Amino acid sequence: MSEIPNREKNECGVQVKNLPLPVNFDADSCRLFFGPGVVCKETSGISSAQMRGVLRVHDYNREEPFYRFYAGVCLQEDEAQLKKHHLRYDLIVVYAGTAGGEYKKTSGHYHSISAAANGMPVSYPEIYEVLQGHAVFVLQSCGTDGEITDVAAVQAAPGDKLIIPPGYGHATVNVGREPLVFADLVSDLCKNTYGQIAQNHGMCCYVLKEEGGFALAPNPNYAQAPQARVCCVQEYPRLGTARSIPLYQTAARHPEWFDYLNHPEKYMDVFMRLS
Ligand SMILES: [Fe+2]
Repeated sequence: MSEIPNREKNECGVQVKNLPLPVNFDADSCRLFFGPGVVCKETSGISSAQMRGVLRVHDYNREEPFYRFYAGVCLQEDEAQLKKHHLRYDLIVVYAGTAGGEYKKTSGHYHSISAAANGMPVSYPEIYEVLQGHAVFVLQSCGTDGEITDVAAVQAAPGDKLIIPPGYGHATVNVGREPLVFADLVSDLCKNTYGQIAQNHGMCCYVLKEEGGFALAPNPNYAQAPQARVCCVQEYPRLGTARSIPLYQTAARHPEWFDYLNHPEKYMDVFMRLS
């Protein structure tokens, strides 16, 4: 990928909170604007036209934006180091609001296989960090024959970081009143796969707007999925996810700490201990 030649300039909006990079968020356009010295490799926008297949209301027919994705964001001075360690840092903005009673969200995906551990395929993990707004991350683990073995709805506030373990599909839901801005750190060798989630019209559960919060509604297209666990994020400072330190800062200074994102098969005992 090459740098986008006409990338958005840092001319409006206000600095994204909890982000140690000169990147502004403009609430009017719901877009990010990058300051001098910041690289953004690629941007894309997802609207209801692309989301219809994963919404609870399949025939939702209003045309409106859902989220914007900014891939490969970093300071120019950090670019070579991150590339050397096969790390990619992205920023995502999910619009506020609902569609058919369901909070706006990302489409949901699984990750490609990294390697094998004890003869079993291991997919790439990922780290998420909330920068502004409030999120619920929906996670679901899928067994080798396609059955869902675990479902979690993880609530997260600014500064919270969540490790997505190997084998878990995931989608991010904006349960706040404002746009949600969050980041991810992942291997640049990782590819997204959408098959099971697209076939089943979304993740195992839908996150609906309810007075004072949210409610989870099971997706009937999954025959025998367990009920979702509702939980909060845990801090794992030794995995680079201390709450008080921005994820970008740790990735830029200590990219070697994130070897587990590229070689998860070596860290299966660590992932087993995550809750
Ligand atoms: Fe992902």
